[in-house]
Amino acid sequence: MSSPVTIRPFEEQDTSACRGLWAELTRSHRALYDDPSIGGDDPGSGFDAYVDEFAGAHKWVAERDGSVIGFVGLILRGRQGEIEPVVVSFDARGQGIGRSLVETAVEAARAEGVDQLKASPVARNSHAIDFFHSLGFTALGHVDLLLDVRHPDTYWQRGERLAGRDFDF
Ligand SMILES: CC(C)(COP(=O)(O)OP(=O)(O)OC[C@H]1O[C@@H](n2cnc3c(N)ncnc32)[C@H](O)[C@@H]1OP(=O)(O)O)[C@@H](O)C(=O)NCCC(=O)NCCS
Repeated sequence: MSSPVTIRPFEEQDTSACRGLWAELTRSHRALYDDPSIGGDDPGSGFDAYVDEFAGAHKWVAERDGSVIGFVGLILRGRQGEIEPVVVSFDARGQGIGRSLVETAVEAARAEGVDQLKASPVARNSHAIDFFHSLGFTALGHVDLLLDVRHPDTYWQRGERLAGRDFDF
């Protein structure tokens, strides 16, 4: 049986482990799009960029046996909040850790008086969409419509419909 998992606020000393988790997040996106260029040469540094850009974000980690195996961030903008990102280490997925991380962030958002919380997984990330849906994120808010000037059509998969129109994802 695996040891218990603790969810606790992020501390400075977690930075290196969180860079590793950010690299895992990038790996997932690379696999989804079959595109090794996503995240650049040093994908872990995306975590530093995140911390710089969202200095006020609330951050928690999941820890087991002294190792950080998950991370969640909560960005607050007035009465709106965003869960960005949530990532669980590959070997620890499917054990309820992502759920615990997001529930912690949702509880904190409620305590801050937030009216709405959003999550913005890429449209091809059906696992993340399933995941958030099971956590109550069941209303569609804004939708990003992309005009991709860089990639050929073959980059995209066919098959989503919204407002009676076909979309690639
Ligand atoms: C998405 C992610 C954070 C989920 O974390 P996790 O610890 O594996 O998820 P949990 O075990 O807590 O699952 C919670 C629920 O989500 C759903 N779920 C989780 N993973 C799923 C999957 N691969 N496929 C379908 N549903 C899934 C299940 O319904 C599950 O419900 P249950 O608790 O009743 O079984 C994790 O898979 C991950 O890090 N993915 C890569 C990064 C990413 O895509 N992040 C989201 C975009 S920012």
